[in-house]
Amino acid sequence: MNDLAGRHIVLGLTGGIACYKAAELCRGFVKEGATVQVVMTEASEQFITPVTMQALSGRTVYTSQWDPREPNNMPHINLSRQADAIVIAPCSADFMARLVHGRADELLSLMCLARPIAQVPLLIAPAMNREMWAHPATQRNMAQLAADGATILGVGSGFQACGETGDGRMLEPEELLEDIVAFFQPKVLSGRKVVITAGPTFEALDPIRGITNHSSGKMGFAIARAAREAGADVAIVAGPVSVPTPRGVRRVDVKSARDMLAATQAEVPQADIFIAAAAVADWRPVTESDQKIKKDGSGSAPTVAFTENPDILATVAKGERARSGALFCVGFAAESHDLVKHAKAKRERKDIPLLVGNIGPLTFGQDDNQMLLVDAQGTTELPRASKIACARRLVAEIARRLPRT
Ligand code: C5P
Repeated sequence: MNDLAGRHIVLGLTGGIACYKAAELCRGFVKEGATVQVVMTEASEQFITPVTMQALSGRTVYTSQWDPREPNNMPHINLSRQADAIVIAPCSADFMARLVHGRADELLSLMCLARPIAQVPLLIAPAMNREMWAHPATQRNMAQLAADGATILGVGSGFQACGETGDGRMLEPEELLEDIVAFFQPKVLSGRKVVITAGPTFEALDPIRGITNHSSGKMGFAIARAAREAGADVAIVAGPVSVPTPRGVRRVDVKSARDMLAATQAEVPQADIFIAAAAVADWRPVTESDQKIKKDGSGSAPTVAFTENPDILATVAKGERARSGALFCVGFAAESHDLVKHAKAKRERKDIPLLVGNIGPLTFGQDDNQMLLVDAQGTTELPRASKIACARRLVAEIARRLPRT
């Protein structure tokens, strides 16, 4: 929870009911370690007070270009020079139009115009009624702002304060936070497609019961988030888990190992990287009863015969794309002891360039992890860290090993 440590964010509020969400966003920035300077337009003060934003940011809010607090009386220059990013949330249709035209008759638009464009990114979270959002003028303005170098954070869809339903809602604060944290990550996988398996598999015995394991999917989902933050197009093939899907990640839900293999094989022909983080069941019952297996009162337990599941990683690693070097495969090994020895042996057995070893009981279901990287050169032990920190490090390590495009 320190993904914005050391960052200074100028948060601009413009007139719209979504201002109430800006309070939560401001709090999110602070929780992630950022310092926040709020700047508000006159219209935004109709929706939320500077007092609220001051209390949450811990700094007095700027509302006027004539603010005498600045010794040089130039808040538009000083505020924009200190920022790592300017985030306008909510950004009204009117404010988008103002930015497009380079208006400078109030502090927030003046400050955006005065920002050093190459050093201070401008991120925009539009918020408006669906008709205003869909209007050609707004769509034109959005395209122009993107062409001028702004990052448009997108809009949500659903119920609107006006009572209508459609596109144009401001994204939720936690969605904006995830996108803004992602914005700051290095784009080491830009233009790459990544496929990840995650979670356990479920091998059915009958319609009620089955064989599964304790994998939570957290590590695989953290890798999916980190890969997307790094600019990749990411698909995650997930066994039954209750982890939320990271923003911008395409999720394919599966149950059994065979479903997971089929879904993975549908994805990898276009992929550059395959990361097998799933804890796939090695065995499945030979038969799946289509009715519940009942006690028959005799006291004798049913006998279950097992058969081996396909090895998804080994199958993909043996495929043409991986063999030709176009698909970089990464495996995981969850061991209980002798990690280095087992991880090295597993990498060679699966014939993959990179394997991540960890101690199963110390990672399953936990929020942090400790990884041992094994490649042809040897082993590297990474420090224990949160799963998202581990995932970002792994993404950087993979990017370093990829053939240049
Ligand atoms: O052979 P073992 O299960 O220990 O190997 C672990 C690695 O292989 C993990 O990356 C896991 O996702 C992958 N695997 C797989 N399909 C299986 C078994 C393991 O993709 N059936």
